[in-house]
Amino acid sequence: MKIIFLGDIVGKVGRQAVLKVWPKLKKKYAPDAVIANAENLAHGDGATIKTLDEMREIGIDYFTSGNHIFKKNKEPEMWQRDDLIRPLNYPVRDEVPGKGFLKVKILGERVWLVNLQGLVYMSEYLRSPFEVLDDFVGEHSGEIILVDFHAEATSEKVALGLAFEEKVTAIFGTHTHIQTADERILTGGAGYISDTGMCGPRNGVIGIEKDEIIRHFHTGLKFKNEPADFPAQVAGVVIEIDPATKKTRKIKRIFEVVKNP
Ligand SMILES: [Fe+2]
Ligand SMILES: [Fe+2]
Repeated sequence: MKIIFLGDIVGKVGRQAVLKVWPKLKKKYAPDAVIANAENLAHGDGATIKTLDEMREIGIDYFTSGNHIFKKNKEPEMWQRDDLIRPLNYPVRDEVPGKGFLKVKILGERVWLVNLQGLVYMSEYLRSPFEVLDDFVGEHSGEIILVDFHAEATSEKVALGLAFEEKVTAIFGTHTHIQTADERILTGGAGYISDTGMCGPRNGVIGIEKDEIIRHFHTGLKFKNEPADFPAQVAGVVIEIDPATKKTRKIKRIFEVVKNP
């Protein structure tokens, strides 16, 4: 079973870049399913039904997200979708929309897709991703479990990978927008990468127009953030899962530069 996971897609440029390289990726890897992180899908901040549908049309099957997903929280119906999740470790309260995991069928196999958010340098209001994943794997042991760990600190990401290397099928890091070169199969059999990288503008600061971000660092003041323009990149990984063992057999980085739409 082959699965492509694409890192955070940033705004229109990110969507156009994915659209452009999609035929090439499809031909090269022939994936059985495609997952992408959608937290920055609509203008770099959150997602909308329209932008999710646009990505569905080109062949992305499921969407994970992260800390930015509630920025455009104007469409409650978005959370009725059966292809979108937010971090599972948000507090368990009725007013938190959406769900943190999906049960899907890929090649007739049951696959659990889980989204978690890190705590280090992020929100202190979320529950421990370690405890939440511990409970989750306890209920679904021996099944295919894919985790998007949306976190800032590589230490927290590596620690979660090693803590669950025998219990999950793969862990895809997201959120930093910078692809790491540490993809591997952990001793316990889980495929792992600290960060899959970003699909979006290449000459911005993690996708955002550079001038205002540099001004922010010079002054300490906040300015309007707009996604940058082309050239762009598409980043992610492709993994091959052994359905018999539920482990990852192979993991390979994907990185494509896209000069124009
Ligand atoms: Fe992001
Ligand atoms: Fe994020």
